[in-house]
Amino acid sequence: MQLFLDGSDINKIRKYCELGLIDGVTTNPSIILKSGKNMIEVISELAGIVSGSVSAEVSALDSDTMVQEGIKLAEIAENVTVKLPITWDGLKACKTLSNKGISVNMTLCFSSSQALLAAKAGAEYVSPFIGRLDDLNLEGIDLISDIKLIYSNYKFSTKILAASIRTVNHVKQCACFGADVATIPLDIFEKLVKHPLTDSGLSQFTADWEKTGQSII
Ligand code: E4P
Repeated sequence: MQLFLDGSDINKIRKYCELGLIDGVTTNPSIILKSGKNMIEVISELAGIVSGSVSAEVSALDSDTMVQEGIKLAEIAENVTVKLPITWDGLKACKTLSNKGISVNMTLCFSSSQALLAAKAGAEYVSPFIGRLDDLNLEGIDLISDIKLIYSNYKFSTKILAASIRTVNHVKQCACFGADVATIPLDIFEKLVKHPLTDSGLSQFTADWEKTGQSII
């Protein structure tokens, strides 16, 4: 499973990219608002740091303007993926942009039927929002497994980009159910390595090693 970071904190994204663990980045209008920065500048900077896909979302609601915005966003860098909402206008714009060879991520996916349409429209990615479904007391992860089944039944190449991830357990579930990508907020990403038994085990091994009086280098 590829790991994307869901955010725009340039310093932290650079740090984890340098570790070689990050395959891409996703943004949305709320993330851009929180950054307080100009969207074009943020996307341009992120696209220079990350070698993989960087999703940038259009603001228009009609397909013609979505296409114009999408072309402008795609011109920022080769690795920009244009993010479009799953509406009829979004699907129409997806078809147009995909036919031009532009990578599209269909976002705000909450049902398998929407994911089916995204694949038919030629999207490179579909983004099911599992956390927001959980917020409604639904099993968000079920949507990942349903889309996985549908895409494998018909051999669609659209990748499942699990979004709206709120917990470490969501990341595990996405991997178990075969999501192609999980886009993870930085605070959750930083928790992935943590385990109290790792910390206590390491403390004990370090203390015992010191008692041996040995050194390796
Ligand atoms: C990413 O592509 C999505 O926009 C993001 O994961 C949404 O997350 P949220 O539901 O926590 O806002």
